[in-house]
Amino acid sequence: MDALSAYIHIPFCTYKCDFCDFTAFAGLDHLSEEYGQIVCQEISDRLKARCDKPLLNSIFYGGGTPGLVAPAIIAEIDQTLRQHALVSPEAEVTLETTPHSISLEKAKAWLDMGINRISIGIQSLSDLELKAVGRDHTRAQALSGIDLAVEAGFTNISTDLMYGLPEQTLESWQLTLNEVLELGLPHLSAYGLQLSTNSPLSGRYPRDSPAYPTEEQFVEFYHVLTKLADAFGLEQYEISNFSRSGFESTHNLSYWSNNDYFAFGVGAHRYVDGARSANWRSLKRYMTDWLGDELYEQIDASTRIKEAIFLALRTRRGIDLSRFERQYGVDLFRLFNKQIKRLTEGGLLESDGKHLWLTQPGVLVSNLVMAEFM
Ligand SMILES: C[S@@+](CC[C@H](N)C(=O)[O-])C[C@H]1O[C@@H](n2cnc3c(N)ncnc32)[C@H](O)[C@@H]1O
Ligand code: SF4
Repeated sequence: MDALSAYIHIPFCTYKCDFCDFTAFAGLDHLSEEYGQIVCQEISDRLKARCDKPLLNSIFYGGGTPGLVAPAIIAEIDQTLRQHALVSPEAEVTLETTPHSISLEKAKAWLDMGINRISIGIQSLSDLELKAVGRDHTRAQALSGIDLAVEAGFTNISTDLMYGLPEQTLESWQLTLNEVLELGLPHLSAYGLQLSTNSPLSGRYPRDSPAYPTEEQFVEFYHVLTKLADAFGLEQYEISNFSRSGFESTHNLSYWSNNDYFAFGVGAHRYVDGARSANWRSLKRYMTDWLGDELYEQIDASTRIKEAIFLALRTRRGIDLSRFERQYGVDLFRLFNKQIKRLTEGGLLESDGKHLWLTQPGVLVSNLVMAEFM
């Protein structure tokens, strides 16, 4: 039986950040207890309907800000999940949080209930940048949140950073990176800002605002990121993810391997038994119709192959060619002969006959490379 993963969405936040498109709501955490009960109901309804008890090797409490709600709510969801699924003793159990939602007491409670990895959204250690993108915490709170996680006893800690922010310069990005990397944490996720047109951020800082780094500077930010991460002993195992050996996220790796995953909670997207589906994004609607689908799509064989290419190319090791053939019954080099030849000759893809991966110049135009396979 293949080990699978489960994602549980907790949508509550202290503030809706100006750049954020996630299903996340500020000022509604008074609903968190009732919400937790509904998530338990959803887990039990969905998993009881299956003829097998799935084996999980990864559980991910994502958000929103799961760290904001009372740990007892997460503990109840966790127990429900463990009643209806088998959880491998080595399973990675991650909880996402903002730094200022962490307290020593909460962090200890998370460890006690079996959470063994914490992912903290820092974004930047510049107060100017944090304010520019509408975060409701300071650099001091960011650093103190990390300290509390360490003090409580977490050893598997990841931080999220963002680059390409308004008011961010190459120097300030280097300062943030250096300061975070010097903490010696085993995992880092660093995301280039995705600016959506309707976000409050694009209202205050439109795409053409001079406060943003230029395209050339953005590329330089990425180079600095990969260089510094490497200098501090973190390997880039995916476009946006860096880790010490052995600290790659099981949850993310499973996702990039195109494995099935369960998902529960408002707006959560799952991929189970060849179908991708998503719960209602409206909190009100989800809380009365937790089994209803806002999206449902049966994935055909050719789409599954394209998605597998797209996901695996995000990883440093790229596509494992023999595994690919075993899993999808096709020889990738035969199916996409022309595209692979052209992209390899252009220096964007590389292969040693066992794997096919994006080169560093390829990573910078990854969307264009992937479009060749679509
Ligand atoms: C669900 S949030 C993490 C936990 C917590 N809610 C927080 O923000 O600290 C996931 C991460 O996605 C990244 N993110 C969110 N919106 C983004 C955007 N528009 N562009 C790039 N990265 C984004 C941020 O780094 C954020 O930490
Ligand atoms: S705290 Fe995280 S999930 Fe919540 S609004 Fe901000 S970025 Fe989005």
